[in-house]
Amino acid sequence: MSNLKQKIARLKKELNAVIVAHNYQRPEVQDIADITGDSLELARRCTEIDADVVVFCGVHFMAETAAILNPERTVLLSEGTAGCPMADMIDADDLQRWKRQYPQAAVVCYVNTTAAVKAESDICCTSANGVKVVNSLDDEEILFIPDKNLGHYVSTKTSKRVILYPGFCPPHQRLKAEQVALAKQLHPDARVIVHPECTAEVIALADAALSTSQMIRYARESQAKTFLVGTEEGLLHPLRQNNPEKAFYPISNSLVCLDMKKTTLETIAQTMELRQNVVTVPEEVRIKAKQAVDRMLAIA
Ligand code: 13P
Ligand code: SF4
Repeated sequence: MSNLKQKIARLKKELNAVIVAHNYQRPEVQDIADITGDSLELARRCTEIDADVVVFCGVHFMAETAAILNPERTVLLSEGTAGCPMADMIDADDLQRWKRQYPQAAVVCYVNTTAAVKAESDICCTSANGVKVVNSLDDEEILFIPDKNLGHYVSTKTSKRVILYPGFCPPHQRLKAEQVALAKQLHPDARVIVHPECTAEVIALADAALSTSQMIRYARESQAKTFLVGTEEGLLHPLRQNNPEKAFYPISNSLVCLDMKKTTLETIAQTMELRQNVVTVPEEVRIKAKQAVDRMLAIA
């Protein structure tokens, strides 16, 4: 074991910590984590944690969700500056303005939002359950924030009127339908799996639009031997690890989330050693945000 890995293992014992990592993290970070998964799985697993400290390897809103669900534990973000550009596209004031414009609509917020925005929302969703969440509501009008692409994808799977906020994920937005078409020409037998944060034009060319962990399951269960992957490159690691006999090709080399890549073994060790990057949520915000997250988790 490298010195750094030994140090992290020692700090984990000293802190009684659990290391949680999103599927987009660097391979070596995913490999030392106790729990990996997509946003929904990580939120669920964060309700079952039995440790004093949660070291969250991901971006700020994810660590905040862990803090919302674990007020009695210390949550450390593995790299203090790792944020989500899409989550930064809406704040609580923006949402209040939109709510005034559409007072009859229920607010469904993608988990990629700040705690303050969740606190202003009726229910949360992730890419794994957006359709289920929207269809679970009695309301006929939905204000879907902040991802216009996921919101549009959900709108194609429901009879409800979905009002879209104009946010997006920069890496997924960059992926073009022409790149998918070209990759399909090069690998005509491949299954195309993309994330619903991709544009409607990209999703239209795919065999399936899935959350990151749903992609891992889809690849495992599929008879296909080759897959074209339209999501952040970090997912290639668990896809290949889980399916050593299958081939996975990124549709584009620019599917990189720079914030997800900020965490390294070095930043994890430093964060743990200095007990820094503590993520906290003011109690009145936490209670309201937790209601939106709990409502989502209550949906099977
Ligand atoms: P999922 O792993 O939930 O599909 O999330 C994708 C994502 O962009 C997280 O920031
Ligand atoms: Fe945000 Fe996109 Fe990065 Fe996910 S991949 S953290 S949505 S910018």
